Amino acid sequence: MSMHPDCERIMLTEEQLKNRVRQVALEVDKEYENKKPLVLGILKGSIIFYADFIRFLSMPVELDFMAVSSYGSGAVSSGKLNIKKDLDRNVAGRDVIIVEDIIDSGFTLANLKTLLYERGALSVKIVTLLNKAERREYDVAPDWNCFDIENEFVIGYGLDYNEQYRHLPYIGILKRSVYEK
Ligand code: IMP
Ligand code: MG
Repeated sequence: MSMHPDCERIMLTEEQLKNRVRQVALEVDKEYENKKPLVLGILKGSIIFYADFIRFLSMPVELDFMAVSSYGSGAVSSGKLNIKKDLDRNVAGRDVIIVEDIIDSGFTLANLKTLLYERGALSVKIVTLLNKAERREYDVAPDWNCFDIENEFVIGYGLDYNEQYRHLPYIGILKRSVYEK
């Protein structure tokens, strides 16, 4: 596999990603027997993970998406969630599975979970590809997590830096020289 020149090194290969995503999807599948959850992808970072994840599910699911951002790009942590694209479906009475690329401070998911419960969701669980536990500032934990990672900026498999690198099929560590120049 050829590595993008802006990558310091590959952290997770396509093979490692596929195997772990499959394993986690099978665990989630078991938990929702006889239910039809709404699988909520958070745009855009989760798209590749989401597409791989749902193809390992055998339960009936409905798909939906939201695009969110935090006001002030995290400089002030007292802000509210900015909804750039809302759900198409009504979540009242539904079991919701949020699919996210990475939990960093936890701001996004802590707020989103609260919002979905306010809208009457029956249950809200979180599946995340990556977890930077060391960075947590808000009280939220994934119900399923594929990989715990160190505090490094990663790209690929949906994750970006300035909207670039999302299409890389692996997770790589971005070279410091790219964001320090
Ligand atoms: P949180 O609200 O602080 O938990 O931030 C989560 C969001 O920050 C993710 O959905 C990503 O969009 C972004 N993010 C955090 N760390 C990284 C990273 O290492 N690479 C790319 N995006 C990241
Ligand atoms: Mg992002």
